[in-house]
Amino acid sequence: MERLVILTGAGISAESGLGTFRDKDGLWTRHDLSEVATPEGFSRNPKRVLDFYNARRANSRAAAPNPAHEALVRLEQSYLGEMLIVTQNVDDLHERAGSRNVLHMHGTLEGALCAACGHRWPAPAIQRPQDPCPACTTAQARPDIVWFGEYPYHMEDIWQALRRADAFVAIGTSGTVYPAAAFAQDAGRAGAFCLELNAEASAVAPDFDEVRLGPASRIVPDWVAEVLARGRVL
Ligand code: NAD
Ligand code: APR
Repeated sequence: MERLVILTGAGISAESGLGTFRDKDGLWTRHDLSEVATPEGFSRNPKRVLDFYNARRANSRAAAPNPAHEALVRLEQSYLGEMLIVTQNVDDLHERAGSRNVLHMHGTLEGALCAACGHRWPAPAIQRPQDPCPACTTAQARPDIVWFGEYPYHMEDIWQALRRADAFVAIGTSGTVYPAAAFAQDAGRAGAFCLELNAEASAVAPDFDEVRLGPASRIVPDWVAEVLARGRVL
């Protein structure tokens, strides 16, 4: 049975109206990421960080999945092989489109984490840093987001999937953040065919066997239609 791993980045959600990070007017051109996407920034000013993520959650909820998310649902429903989506995105557009097998390596906007005891809970919006943790009752609630310098979630499962993959497809990611930026190398070393689908070539495009450029809302459905017609990626 063919095994497919798909990595998605901010680019797959761009046409849903959610900004990317490093494109023109991307999030990191408008916010100091050391203030809103690091544990140190949270310690310095938790309210600023909570406001930042509550605003991003509101944007994420107001957005809708686009044809790229929907094409991956069709693929998951009809693909005869094993398929895993690993996303760097913290929005839940894959799940709202109907994808089932999704790993969020940078966490999600829908979750809260206790910085004191590590307890996780679904938090519509952590309004104040004083929100008590339901498990240990200390006021250490933070967004369940993996920040710069922190270790991503699900890495053992992800590396195992990459070692076993026959095909690895990266969609809408700039290839500038590790360890995700090395996934094509990891999968290629294990013999997988690697395809990049992006609006422009990423920093790690040379790690791929094939690069297709264009908006995700067009090139992802086109690629999925080919795979479903063939019954396989390869
Ligand atoms: P980093 O210290 O891991 O890397 C900084 C830069 O060094 C990277 O952007 C890359 O250019 C280079 N680099 C890192 N590892 C490399 C490698 N193995 N080979 C070659 N170059 C490498 O900082 P980071 O990239 O910000 O990520 C650190 C951790 O924070 C990672 O676990 C990442 O998943 C997590 N994280 C990062 C971001 C982000 O935007 N960078 C956001 C959320 C979470
Ligand atoms: N269709 C396809 N790709 C697109 C589109 C689009 N409509 N719009 C933008 N892109 C591509 C860009 O070409 C770029 O390669 O999406 C990518 C966006 O890159 P980044 O902004 O760096 O986003 P991403 O790669 O997801 O960032 C990785 O960095 O700051 C962290 O935690 C953050 O998970 C994020 C990580």
